[in-house]
Amino acid sequence: MAENARRNGLTVELLECGWAASGPIVAAGPFELVLASDVLYERVNVALLVALLPQLVTPAGQVLLADLGRPALAEFLDAMAGRGWTVEQRPPGAEGIRATVYRLLPPN
Ligand SMILES: C[S@@+](CC[C@H](N)C(=O)[O-])C[C@H]1O[C@@H](n2cnc3c(N)ncnc32)[C@H](O)[C@@H]1O
Repeated sequence: MAENARRNGLTVELLECGWAASGPIVAAGPFELVLASDVLYERVNVALLVALLPQLVTPAGQVLLADLGRPALAEFLDAMAGRGWTVEQRPPGAEGIRATVYRLLPPN
């Protein structure tokens, strides 16, 4: 993480916590942009992320989720849409990139 930030000329602050013990990250937010990659590889993660992500994003913010086609993806996207979130599938990225990126916008 530190090396990646250095190469990109960025300063980052690292905070590690579980999605079921998310007090520290919720207290640090909310954020304009939340990035998540390959986090739906287990069904148990759906409920955790559906509960957590809305607490992390500002009203005008967004979540960008990269997913490899995990089985729990559809359940997660349906749950977010059912809570009023706008779910957009982003255009395919560069050739050779297997992940699909979804943009999630909070309800108005
Ligand atoms: C398949 S890895 C993806 C790692 C990285 N984001 C990527 O795309 O290469 C899933 C990640 O979700 C994290 N994760 C899974 N369940 C979690 C939980 N309950 N709380 C916090 N992180 C969790 C794991 O620690 C791991 O870093």
